[in-house]
Amino acid sequence: MKVTVFGIGYVGLVQAAVLADAGHHVCCVDIDPDKIAGLKKGVIPIYEPGLEALVLKGTREGRLVFTTDAAMGVGHGQLQFIAVGTPPDEDGSADLKYVLAVAETIARHMAGRKVIINKSTVPVGTADKVSAKVAAVLAERGESLPYAVVSNPEFLKEGAAVSDCQKPDRIVIGTSDSEAEKAMRELYAPFNRNHDKVIVMDVRSAELTKYAANCMLATKISFMNEIANLAELLGADIEAVRKGIGSDPRIGYHFIYPGCGYGGSCFPKDVQALVRTAQQVGYEPALLQSVEDVNYRQKQKLFQFINRHFKGELEGKTIALWGLAFKPNTDDMREASSRVLMEALWAAGAKVQAFDPEAMDETIRIYGQRSDLKLVSTLEEALAGADALAICTEWQPFRAPDFERIKASLSEPVIFDGRNLYEPAALKAQGFTYYAIGRGD
Ligand code: UGA
Repeated sequence: MKVTVFGIGYVGLVQAAVLADAGHHVCCVDIDPDKIAGLKKGVIPIYEPGLEALVLKGTREGRLVFTTDAAMGVGHGQLQFIAVGTPPDEDGSADLKYVLAVAETIARHMAGRKVIINKSTVPVGTADKVSAKVAAVLAERGESLPYAVVSNPEFLKEGAAVSDCQKPDRIVIGTSDSEAEKAMRELYAPFNRNHDKVIVMDVRSAELTKYAANCMLATKISFMNEIANLAELLGADIEAVRKGIGSDPRIGYHFIYPGCGYGGSCFPKDVQALVRTAQQVGYEPALLQSVEDVNYRQKQKLFQFINRHFKGELEGKTIALWGLAFKPNTDDMREASSRVLMEALWAAGAKVQAFDPEAMDETIRIYGQRSDLKLVSTLEEALAGADALAICTEWQPFRAPDFERIKASLSEPVIFDGRNLYEPAALKAQGFTYYAIGRGD
């Protein structure tokens, strides 16, 4: 099928590359000329396992093209994906200006029937707004061309985006238009082989499904973080509790790992956006607000441990930091816990010596060169001459380090672990002071 994707960010690029790999002809449109020029030369703007190979293959085989020419994009696809960003407004609600600008562009240039698909995470009611925008522009043009607006939320995880997209758990299609449904089923047929993963529903339910999924996952994490904080005060071990409750299949083992808070481009933004949506319709979402509040507090946790350990005397101290990305296998630092920690350490006069396998360039892009931040190229280098080690991301190489070396490098053998990577008893036996989340100290 012929498909156009507007917005070649995370979701758009992965979706386009995976659709092209499945045999569709995909035209990618973005307003950023540098990004498009780079992609034409095979420069992938994000780090995502498996993505580069797919983009290069699609380009080589002529099924994936990149352009800034919106008219060409509209002309190409019978299916038009909108995958542009919806950054939070000052009040936390999702800003729809980019989504509506694409809707307008499609309406300006379309010459025949189009299925317009919202792939961006957008508040309930956005499909209706997109539809109204298209209708208004067509009316302005004096045209009455047929179109349908479909909600087709994306559920991929960063770091596993390509495989999530190729092997989706479910394909949610929000539409009441039978022709659009047929086209969407045909588009996803290559990913829907073993059992039917397509769930068709009305457009508003599809929009809410996306928020409900992310908010449920964020709720699980904040719930566990709250119980972890309680475990600390009650002398219990959250890791035992986690195993104890996860064994109940109604609860399950997924997404109940306590830590120094959730980050990323999705959970914080989506929880806040659903809170705003609820308030706009006169509902006070007490649980969602608490999910957000608990997470805000949780991100301060490592700093509180460090500050307490050093009795508030952080001036001149150097903290080694392992992990900058908001989670492993990505270079993304949006809403990362590491940022809250570093900024608190700097404000208290401490220095940070940091290592991350992928997010070093991103750190420089965000913070620039600063005298209180030294980025180093190995985990060992981060330790050299530091007073303590803090861990914000559970990258695989951090899981089994050389503890003797850590001890020898630090001025004091103390570890502040925001991801519960080690066994407290084993570390204590080796002479460390070990702070973790919900495991006593
Ligand atoms: C999340 C969802 O998991 C995807 O299903 C969804 O499609 C995506 O948002 C989106 O809306 O685009 P992602 O943001 O890539 O995906 O990251 P996750 O793997 O969900 O992790 C989010 C944060 O939660 C990370 O900071 C992670 O460290 C934290 N987390 C996760 C925990 O603290 N504990 C857990 O048990 C799991």
